[in-house]
Amino acid sequence: MNSRKMGPVELLHMSVFSQSFSPCGRFLAAGNNYGEIAVFSLSAALSPDASEGSQKPILNFTAHDGPVFSLLSTDTHLLSAGNGEISAWSWAELIKKSTKAAWTRKPNYETSLEIPEINAMIINPKDNSLIVGGGDNNIHIMDMETGVFKSVLKGHTDYIHCLCFKEREGEILSGGEDGAVRIWDSRTNRPVHCIEVFKYEECARPQFGKWISCLATDSDWMLCGGGPSLSLWHLRSMSPTSVFPLPGCQREAVFYQDLIMSVGEGPNVSHCLHGGTVKAQIPCSPSSLNTLALNLKNTEHRVMTVGGSSHQIDVFTNFSYRAFSLSF
Ligand SMILES: *[C@@H]1O[C@H](CO)[C@@H](O)[C@H](O)[C@H]1NC(C)=O
Ligand SMILES: *[C@@H]1O[C@H](CO)[C@@H](O)[C@H](O)[C@H]1NC(C)=O
Ligand SMILES: *[C@@H]1O[C@H](CO)[C@@H](O)[C@H](O)[C@H]1NC(C)=O
Repeated sequence: MNSRKMGPVELLHMSVFSQSFSPCGRFLAAGNNYGEIAVFSLSAALSPDASEGSQKPILNFTAHDGPVFSLLSTDTHLLSAGNGEISAWSWAELIKKSTKAAWTRKPNYETSLEIPEINAMIINPKDNSLIVGGGDNNIHIMDMETGVFKSVLKGHTDYIHCLCFKEREGEILSGGEDGAVRIWDSRTNRPVHCIEVFKYEECARPQFGKWISCLATDSDWMLCGGGPSLSLWHLRSMSPTSVFPLPGCQREAVFYQDLIMSVGEGPNVSHCLHGGTVKAQIPCSPSSLNTLALNLKNTEHRVMTVGGSSHQIDVFTNFSYRAFSLSF
């Protein structure tokens, strides 16, 4: 998920790193390694009279200089992160094919020469703030009303790959290259816990490294993985309860009903049971996967979409069956 991890092959060929559904669920935005964003109409692609053209973007534009590692939708805007900056695009304008940024802002970096990549963005719904993490090892928090960056959380000793928010407790979780999952209280901005996943023998895979590239939470449970194996943790006891026997580094994992879905190195979407069993592995078009998104808000367009080292984004209408591919 990080530019420092991009080899020559990734630079020559398109990789899709990020995705976000529009608030209405009828459109999908995807971001690639060239700083481009494409917008697809799911309504058109899923329609009974869809043609090959319905699988092409309704719009594509260059949003940033660097890769678009993170995309996020609010009720009105698509937020995109590029090298050192965040831009907002009105969904209403994008649908009208207008690509003028509503705003572009930069976190307060320590030196003005610094343009670290931004790897992750999430919203704290409790105070409507935007939480941003990336190459400068710090978490930056922006008030969405005023656009002011109001605080910085320091603790990681290497770059941040992933973030998630634990809503009931108001806790921010961050995972990074330093191998730590850090848990922060969003009200006080103080660190609460630090879990060094690679120090747990059942998760450690020193041959891959210690970096944490994916994080997700569901009530008291946390999923994390990267260099260490994908594992499920109970956050009250701070211990791993299941370790999933997936071969490569996982880059995105989500809870979905009684399943855990995960993508990473290799072409498969893995469906795992909480107890640790890999129930199914569904092959996708890209040979390596970066991003998995579920469109659950709009029942008519309830799909899973998967992107990786290819211009193709696979669309699953039934989560066990790849229906077709969108083409960036
Ligand atoms: C993307 O945009 C470029 C330039 O605006 C255009 O030439 C190209 O055809 C577009 N691609 C698609 C798939 O729409
Ligand atoms: C992908 O899944 C198939 C089964 O569908 C399996 O044979 C293959 O080993 C898997 N590949 C990787 C890299 O995990
Ligand atoms: C998904 O598709 C597979 C293969 O076509 C089928 O066996 C399965 O029943 C479908 N599941 C649902 C929930 O529709």
